[in-house]
Amino acid sequence: MTTTANIPTTSCFGVADHTLFVCKTCATIWQDGKPLGESGGQQLLHQLQHLAQDWDLRDEFPIQEVECMSACNRSCVVAFAAKGKLTYLFGDLASDSSASAVLECANQYYAKPSGLLPWSERPEALKKGILAKIPPLPLSQ
Ligand code: FES
Repeated sequence: MTTTANIPTTSCFGVADHTLFVCKTCATIWQDGKPLGESGGQQLLHQLQHLAQDWDLRDEFPIQEVECMSACNRSCVVAFAAKGKLTYLFGDLASDSSASAVLECANQYYAKPSGLLPWSERPEALKKGILAKIPPLPLSQ
């Protein structure tokens, strides 16, 4: 099941609806074909949702849980996406200590019209583990 934590709105730039995708299946421990306890992805998701309650961008940058982003061997995995911006996929995030860095990086992504996240400006936890930087689709007129 996929849910959205917040309601998307148009950004201050008037062009970008932002979404933070979080894989909730990453770092799942399986036993007899069933997940055992809370996955690392769920742990990261819950920490992000908790921190986002006091986040200035909580209405502009909804958090959306997803089942998988096909980077399962690089868990935990998140992605930043917005209309007209680069899309970034990050992996290798610690499930118990990355949430504040992810939101800090989301702030940087939101502030840049292109979404560009230079290595030198990213929080430490997101300096490594970048898995994809995908060009934006053209904005419709
Ligand atoms: S299980 Fe998280 S990317 Fe596949």
